Amino acid sequence: MARPTPELRLAASLPTTQTIEHTVSLARRIREMEASPTQAVDAKAKALKAAGEPVIGFGAGEPDFPTPAHIVAAAQRAAELPASHRYTPAPGQPVLREAIAEVTSRTAGRTITAAEVVLANGGKHALYNIFMTLLDEGDEVIVPAPYWVSYPEQIKLAGGVPVVVPTTGEAGFQATVDQLEQARTERTKALVFVSPSNPTGAVYPPEVTAEIGNWAAEHGIWVITDEIYDRLVYGDTVFTSLPAVAPDAAPRTIIASGVAKTYAMTGWRVGWAIAPVEVAAGMAKLQSQVTSNVCNVAQAAALEAITGDQGPSEAMRQAFDRRRRVAVDALSAIDGVSVFEPTGAFYVFPSFESYLGREVAGRQIASTLDLAEVLLEEAKVALVPGEAFGAPGYARLSYALSDEDLVEGITRIGALLQG
Ligand SMILES: Cc1ncc(COP(=O)(O)O)c(C=O)c1O
Repeated sequence: MARPTPELRLAASLPTTQTIEHTVSLARRIREMEASPTQAVDAKAKALKAAGEPVIGFGAGEPDFPTPAHIVAAAQRAAELPASHRYTPAPGQPVLREAIAEVTSRTAGRTITAAEVVLANGGKHALYNIFMTLLDEGDEVIVPAPYWVSYPEQIKLAGGVPVVVPTTGEAGFQATVDQLEQARTERTKALVFVSPSNPTGAVYPPEVTAEIGNWAAEHGIWVITDEIYDRLVYGDTVFTSLPAVAPDAAPRTIIASGVAKTYAMTGWRVGWAIAPVEVAAGMAKLQSQVTSNVCNVAQAAALEAITGDQGPSEAMRQAFDRRRRVAVDALSAIDGVSVFEPTGAFYVFPSFESYLGREVAGRQIASTLDLAEVLLEEAKVALVPGEAFGAPGYARLSYALSDEDLVEGITRIGALLQG
């Protein structure tokens, strides 16, 4: 039987499209795996909405905008071409790999070649390819928390052991080298580094990024740096690619990224990993036996996204920035909610700790899991409890939703908590 973790409790309370047949003996790796809690919250919010409930969903990690028209047009053109109806090489179309290498060379502090780039079915799949290619049974991977939900599960699927390093809002949700050093053992193979972060929106400054990269280089630790939100930074904040400020770490750095967030292309499923050629070849080999390649037409769309007009994506970034400020102000105005101001991605990760042990809407709130349940049932607002990210006491709200829903949703949260 699977362990009754908070994530499972969350998933169990949510409708699924399939019923798992308990008489079937599923493989241990699946029995022991947590379903994605963020997808579960999103699915429940969408199902309630479809059933006519006035639910506002803060759960989804995706832009509410359509994919920019020039990208859709490129996909339509590609779909007309018989060449697009065929397989591509396992690591992706050469022209796309070259374009990704060229664009990433601008931030990574060195010239990246197409041979280092392996396309995958989304950034999530790129990360899976990385863990599967790099980890042996028992290899430890340091994962700062709050973490994106898939890292620990993917690490475990690949036979690795996630070693979680907690961080708090007071510490800017940044792990320090001292903390990483305490977590290091002789089995430490890699560190997961994500900046801007999902779920906190925290962005590491260049000097801390450099310190962490230098620490990893000194100990021969691989860095898996998730750069999927690299363009989504706000105000004076700058995105720093770890290998650019810690060149000694570059030979053991793998960059994961994709088009989903920057170009409102979550449904197209195009991501990539950029790794030293030996690792890249390993990932391509894995992919050649598992998925063959990413959808050919989607690759054409991704090519247009990264090489075409960047105006629409910049306009979305500006909208997120505006909503970020609206969300922070509105949440900060609720008694007892403390808000760390995010400077990247499109999430805000407030602390609801002062509500734990209290009653909300006549219900005793012992955890943020309870709070999320009450908010959904009573206020019809879906957010993801911090337990899903290894950070109980907090909750994640995506602000990639319309201005009206944003204000209405946070107003409802405030009314329920203070009422
Ligand atoms: C930190 C982070 N990495 C990777 C991904 C994967 O994105 P996708 O698989 O949609 O490209 C996500 C999506 O939520 C994310 O938040």
